[in-house]
Amino acid sequence: ASKSVKLNTGAEMPTVGLGTWKSASGAVEFALKNGYTHVDTAAAYKNEKEVGAGIKASGVPRESIFLTTKLNNPDQKEAPEGLELSLKNLGTPYLDLCALMHWPAPMTKGEPALADKTHDWLDTWKSMEALYKAHPDKLKAIGVSNFSVESLERLLAVAEVVPTVNQIEIHPSCPAEDVVAFCRSKGIVTAYSPLGSDNSPLLTNAVVVKLAEKHGVSPANVLISLQANKEGVTVLPKSVTNSRVLSNALIIDLSDEEIKELPKIDETHHFHACHLDWTGWGGLGFPDCK
Ligand code: A2P
Repeated sequence: ASKSVKLNTGAEMPTVGLGTWKSASGAVEFALKNGYTHVDTAAAYKNEKEVGAGIKASGVPRESIFLTTKLNNPDQKEAPEGLELSLKNLGTPYLDLCALMHWPAPMTKGEPALADKTHDWLDTWKSMEALYKAHPDKLKAIGVSNFSVESLERLLAVAEVVPTVNQIEIHPSCPAEDVVAFCRSKGIVTAYSPLGSDNSPLLTNAVVVKLAEKHGVSPANVLISLQANKEGVTVLPKSVTNSRVLSNALIIDLSDEEIKELPKIDETHHFHACHLDWTGWGGLGFPDCK
């Protein structure tokens, strides 16, 4: 697997980045001090200040780091304000990538946040495009997250800027093959939760363990490498455990035969992106959700 992937902006995105959902500054500082150059966060994680503190504490120059955040669903109507707040919280003058629209799902502010039927996420994209054009010094690239093929097609029909990345959940229990193929034909795709998230049964799956033993690595290395071995795919393992942060950065080459053994392991839960399967979000009032 290559160490970085070229974006449609010409910039290089390091193949492995640190995911930070439910994480804090310590993991970011440790990762950056130990060779990571790519950190992914989101306004919704409510940890941008901690991530920013971790970057500062690491002493690694900002220009050596690829930093991504995401616009929160309730901020879709106010993308410029959302972006400014993220920059302020992260203590950075710019973002390498704002994976716009954490979900194609505008939501109301306050608790409980519900579907905001007065707003179309396509308008959010238009305001992100305007921001990107007006402030190339603040936004080096814009993208999306949790977009299905259907949502991407709707976006691309009118977009002036092709999203740089679609960040989606990908692992052997959620291979998302249609989205991955579509995104690879347009640009690149980033995999989140490559391990299958917390308490993942994938880490003890017999096929995964067998391949890990064969290569003398951990099951996590097999699962992360599975994504990193795909051309044009970047991957975001998350860990707050220093030893895992270190070991997760090791990418091994998997043969085509080995990769074929892994694509579909029907074991763990996954988050359901809109239109892929919106189960669980219907209660929030999204019209497309069953
Ligand atoms: P922790 O953060 O406590 O180390 P994903 O990246 O798929 O969302 O998975 C994140 C989950 O996997 C977290 O619970 C994280 O735990 C755990 N995890 C991360 N790296 C490893 C590893 N190398 N071995 C086992 N579990 C891991």
